[in-house]
Amino acid sequence: MLNRLETQSPDALLALIKLYADDSRTDKIDLGVGVYRTDDGDTPVFAAIKAAEQRLVDTQDSKSYLGPEGDMGFVNALMPYIFGDDATMGGRIAGMQTPGGTGAVRLAAALAQKAGLERLYMGTPSWPNHAQIFRDIELEFAPFEHAKSDGTANIDGVLEAIRSAQPNSGILLHGCCHNPTGVEYTAEQWDAIGDAIAETGIFPIIDTAYQGLGDGLEEDAVGLRSVLAKVPEAFIAYSCDKNFGMYRDRVGAFYIMADDQAVLDKAFTNANALARASWSMPPDHGGSAVREILRDGELTRLWLDELDTMRERMRQVRARLAEAGQTGGVDLTPLGQQNGLFSVLPVSKEQVAMLRENHGIYMAGSGRINIAGLNMGNIDRFIAAVADVTA
Ligand code: LMR
Repeated sequence: MLNRLETQSPDALLALIKLYADDSRTDKIDLGVGVYRTDDGDTPVFAAIKAAEQRLVDTQDSKSYLGPEGDMGFVNALMPYIFGDDATMGGRIAGMQTPGGTGAVRLAAALAQKAGLERLYMGTPSWPNHAQIFRDIELEFAPFEHAKSDGTANIDGVLEAIRSAQPNSGILLHGCCHNPTGVEYTAEQWDAIGDAIAETGIFPIIDTAYQGLGDGLEEDAVGLRSVLAKVPEAFIAYSCDKNFGMYRDRVGAFYIMADDQAVLDKAFTNANALARASWSMPPDHGGSAVREILRDGELTRLWLDELDTMRERMRQVRARLAEAGQTGGVDLTPLGQQNGLFSVLPVSKEQVAMLRENHGIYMAGSGRINIAGLNMGNIDRFIAAVADVTA
């Protein structure tokens, strides 16, 4: 039977991790998978997480099952950061823990589909796993262009997609720090998007995987909150993998907003059933560490300081790239205005291969670079290499 299966190519982004590890050049530069790196190129465990983990070691008295919704202390503690002071919007929002943001995106898509969603509009390029998840559950997706060639958001594209959407459609939006482009909507544009969604009734799914890595925790929630303030229903997929540096611990949450308590409760029974049938219960460790941090003022301050340091470093890298301006055939100026961990260089697949082979610089085939892979020790070499392969 198994010989009926077709061989699948390895995930291109994850394959880069191995390619990079196998390269013996000491000056190689990893701009591939999206993990934060310090100026020394390390991805250390946050000090706040280390302290929270120590508390868990000292105090956790059971590892018994929690249920498909996971650790509700974690889920609820995150809510004010995501949704603001009125964190449940008058009792209209509730959530559950998921295995990473990916689990939340998959649950959101599957639950929307169960409720009758037939197609999802999505700005492209997007995180490649988005399309992979939708294909896997056989949910049709309709692409529109997310960004313009000048490195700014294609607001007309998203508004047109919303206004022309067929019935029973949804739209996937990146809450902040767009992956892969780094191209954000302005507050005014988010406002217009929220109005268009409210007018047409298209169902919004907002994927927020990088809160705090763009302009700040509050600033990065502006778009999401402005849409939620205007619409009756929405799903929110959230990841703590980046903003708490918990990548391999898979720390995520899924939130439902409904305009009626009975509908919210009913939707949750379905979300729980889907979670039970998929992963049964989410892994506990990362969520409980985040909960420990958010319940303790001192640990929260430590975490916020660490997040500020990350953001500030990425700003410096972006500023240096923007200062380089026209670099061979690529204008790096727009990268200064973009946000978060990623930007896309307008380079061909051949140029990406030349950067890898001739210069030991690893990036996704799409030209996406992880900004945090650059530092003051390697950035000039990177700029020179881009000039070399695009001249
Ligand atoms: C990325 O885009 O690099 C991260 O979200 C890691 C992943 O799972 O793709």
